[in-house]
Amino acid sequence: MFNRTRSLLVLALFVVAAFASGCGSQGVSVPSKTVAGAGAQTFSEKCGGCHTISYAGTHGSKPSGETNSKDRTNGPNFDQRKETYQSVITAIRQGGFSGAIMPGNIVTGDEAKAVAIFLAKYSGRNPD
Ligand code: HEC
Repeated sequence: MFNRTRSLLVLALFVVAAFASGCGSQGVSVPSKTVAGAGAQTFSEKCGGCHTISYAGTHGSKPSGETNSKDRTNGPNFDQRKETYQSVITAIRQGGFSGAIMPGNIVTGDEAKAVAIFLAKYSGRNPD
């Protein structure tokens, strides 16, 4: 019983990981050798499910009009919303600004810094 539950869990995690990295390798349009590029790659893998930004090829934010307060994965669209380095670091640490939906500390340390550098540079560039 325990083993069965455990192996199903491992399988589920594997599928999620494979899916996330599959999506992540497409559509990043920031030079990969830069810190911002590494941040974009991490963003596409760890944040793209809930946030849109064309520079990382992610579409996690829901189109306006379809927005529904029960839609718990509808994070802000970073093509439209400009973030600063510090606001991203804070949001990553505490899990968004409300702390209600976005998990805290999905990335930490240098990885979190790279994501913040990426967003500070590339967010807010495609508002329409
Ligand atoms: C499970 C979905 C989910 C994931 C995964 C997620 N977020 Fe969020 N995020 C949200 C939601 C929903 C909000 C808005 C509510 C809030 O601020 O608590 C938000 C808010 C934010 C904000 C604040 C935006 C603003 O100006 O109000 C930032 C910055 C942010 N996220 C960055 C990230 C980064 C970077 C990652 C990856 C490390 C990430 N998010 C992963 C759902 C998510």
